[in-house]
Amino acid sequence: MNILPKPFRIDVAEGSFAFRSDAKVATDIPVIASLFGGADAASPVRFVKGDTEWDYVLRITPKGVTALAATDEGLFHAAVTLLQLAGEAGETDLPACTVYDKPRYAYRAGMIDVCRHFFDVDTVKKLIDSMALFKFNHLHFHLSDDQGFRLRIDALPKLHQVGSERKGTCGDGKPTGGYYTKAQIKEIVDYAAERYIEIVPEIDLPGHTRAIVAAYPELSCSGKPTEVASWFGIHSKILCTGKEKVYEALDVIFREMSEMFPCKLFHLGGDEVAKLEWAKCPDCAAVYKREGLKNLEELQGYFTNKAINILKKYGKTPVLWNEALKSDVLDESAVVQYWTTDRASAERVAKAVCEEGRRVVMSRCNPYYLDYPCGTHSLKAMYMLEPAEELGKSAEAGILGVECPLWTEHISETEELFRHFYPRALAVAEAGWSAPGKDYADFEERLKGVLFLLDRRDVPYIPVAECNPGKIKSALQTAAFGLKMQRGCDPSSARNWRSMSLKQPKF
Ligand code: ACM
Ligand code: ZN
Repeated sequence: MNILPKPFRIDVAEGSFAFRSDAKVATDIPVIASLFGGADAASPVRFVKGDTEWDYVLRITPKGVTALAATDEGLFHAAVTLLQLAGEAGETDLPACTVYDKPRYAYRAGMIDVCRHFFDVDTVKKLIDSMALFKFNHLHFHLSDDQGFRLRIDALPKLHQVGSERKGTCGDGKPTGGYYTKAQIKEIVDYAAERYIEIVPEIDLPGHTRAIVAAYPELSCSGKPTEVASWFGIHSKILCTGKEKVYEALDVIFREMSEMFPCKLFHLGGDEVAKLEWAKCPDCAAVYKREGLKNLEELQGYFTNKAINILKKYGKTPVLWNEALKSDVLDESAVVQYWTTDRASAERVAKAVCEEGRRVVMSRCNPYYLDYPCGTHSLKAMYMLEPAEELGKSAEAGILGVECPLWTEHISETEELFRHFYPRALAVAEAGWSAPGKDYADFEERLKGVLFLLDRRDVPYIPVAECNPGKIKSALQTAAFGLKMQRGCDPSSARNWRSMSLKQPKF
């Protein structure tokens, strides 16, 4: 049966039920009715709330279909399973069976970067709507980076007035920008909630903050004016750790964002922090000496924990990219998102999970990053990654879930956005939901059987036949992507990159 992600258990019975997916169903949940032909209490296809330890149970008998779940969300999951079973024709004899289903992980996410390129509300909603069909339950929204700040914060208006616009992209000379108003964020958050998806907002700190610093230069170490970045790579103009007004600004941003985003998780970034400016800043030096710090990682740890303490006032749980563990002092409440591919980081994350009881989101860049071409991160490679493998079996209990990030340095068109996301993200949807055990041929077969759901919504995707290129094509795609990345980098990137591992300050 073509169900993706694969359900926990299916018990096959005798007979079948003639089903049309445009027939009415008995439900009082509007989004479920909207997936089919509407609502009718007399329909033999019924969605019923009741006690069960499963996420949902979907029973098909010759007389009808009954979906049972303890929550509306479980009923929605049953509905998308039924929609997949109905198939492309939408009219079929459903084999009598009972599906017993539950997710492996609580967190199943995709991420979009709307900073490197901005995408409008309708595009974000279309992404959310399509993700919900595959039981994703979070969208990580990367809202602040060197190339753009994408929210309106009333008390800090230059963040959108200045921080959301840049003069061009990689020398094209075409001004570009965009931000979401509070009403638009509400529209996105509400639309996602109707589909049982929560939006995890990210303000990447303290690095990747050149757009913030362009809006408010006094928040940087030097205080000198700068522009929103037009090139990619690593930038050194970042937030100062020693100026109290930085933390006051964060408090304002977190307060207004907490009102916009009800999700308990709130991403604070923490990746790729160039430390050049800190290493010669008198205000950073004052913190360093006062706190008796031993290296610049500890200074990042000081900054991050201070930001976390502000965030906690608003009842949020912080999420940080895994570099934030390097300080050895990261607040114990923080969830870590594992993305780097080096052994030392994997060991650090595994230790944090096994010894500190920390929770982790698996997002290993290779192969989960969707901005890379299929030749670098193939569908098969994404499917075959066993989330617990990299960190060791004993880390399994600490894995909160999985996420496939989509960075957009080189993606400016909506069609390209979706073609990078689908169908590979569905391998991650399966990793997040289904019980362990891999069978790629079976996955590919089921995948082909559910892509009609994307066709129906005009969601572009790469044909499955192109998702696992051979050796030569893969090498060519990887080389072309590497070149594009390299050419898009700011000239100072290499120096700034090196300063990410700068240990000792000059002061
Ligand atoms: C990242 O890819 N810099 C988190
Ligand atoms: Zn400073």
